[in-house]
Amino acid sequence: MSVKTKNHSAILVTGGLGFIGSHTVVELIQSGYEAVIIDNLSNSSLNVLDGIEKIAGVRTVCYTMDVLDTAGLQTIINNHQISGVIHFAAYKAVGESVEKPLQYYQNNVGGLISLLSAMKNCAIEKLVFSSSCTVYGQPETLPVTEDSGVVSAESPYGNTKKVGEEILKDIAKTGWGKIVSLRYFNPVGAHPSSHIGELPLGVPNNLIPFITQTAAGWREQLTVFGNDYNTPDGSCIRDYIHVVDLAKAHVIALDFIENMQDHYNMFNLGTGVGISVLEVIKTFEKVTGLKLNYTIGNRRSGDIEKVWADCSKANNVLGWKSESGLEQMLLDAWNWQLKLEK
Ligand code: WQD
Repeated sequence: MSVKTKNHSAILVTGGLGFIGSHTVVELIQSGYEAVIIDNLSNSSLNVLDGIEKIAGVRTVCYTMDVLDTAGLQTIINNHQISGVIHFAAYKAVGESVEKPLQYYQNNVGGLISLLSAMKNCAIEKLVFSSSCTVYGQPETLPVTEDSGVVSAESPYGNTKKVGEEILKDIAKTGWGKIVSLRYFNPVGAHPSSHIGELPLGVPNNLIPFITQTAAGWREQLTVFGNDYNTPDGSCIRDYIHVVDLAKAHVIALDFIENMQDHYNMFNLGTGVGISVLEVIKTFEKVTGLKLNYTIGNRRSGDIEKVWADCSKANNVLGWKSESGLEQMLLDAWNWQLKLEK
């Protein structure tokens, strides 16, 4: 049992065995919180608990269950005196969401409603919600602030995040909840210990795992999805943020909620720096000394051209700022890849 240095009880982390969830559990424990995980293992593995233990020195309690199991959630909340929740559990593959929209709405929106029902029934109000910069679509002006318009999402996945935020705002208007939505930009990298990272389940959709798997010889070649965009080198621009910086922001958001006057707040979590796909490749080659096998292919449907965050609200209100640059992100991602077996 971890020694609680903060006068609170435990934090429930849904999807706590996932990429961002597992890194957040480590930061919670190292900040003196106790974490309880629920995860349905649809995109993770129980082995992640070993990695968390190696870093944080604690065997985290973990229940294999679905966030749609409202009664199960209530039992856990009551048995562990849960005081707050960080909600990661959701499907997140944009392409898959286009093929299986119903599963995405059922799991992502239904799961949020199930969690909120359990929280209301157990009289706990503190919630940190995992949202996404996807809600902005292609912003008109950059960097994008929290006041920038939320557009009709490019994918059912993006829409589940947009709908999730709307649900939370509507509930907050009834005077219930201490809720913070965190809009992630592009989470990448791995814990510097290489004990946890992004699990390679199937062919990666995302750029960084595809790069590291290509460099490791797991993939033949990386395809750059288009170099004819209206950007300096023609490839798309994103705001890549180290997963540990992102995890730390969740702990800070929990602390912020303690004294939050409003019922709802929302923050961009990025670095404020836009980096192109070709720049990522160049930086990866620089930090590893490897030559990456890639080719230029067609654009990927649904991709936006360029987005990066204005993080001044998180900097000024949360007192949070990202610390790691792209080189560290890529080095940590590569060291994690080197530990994986095919
Ligand atoms: C980044 C860039 C691709 C793969 C994703 C999720 C989104 C959000 C953030 C959670 C793009 C290019 C990629 C490849 C490539 N996650 N690329 N070749 O699409 O910005 O957003 O992370 O909320 O929901 O979709 O990230 O890593 O897929 O792509 O050229 O093999 O890399 O075109 O420009 P994306 P990504």
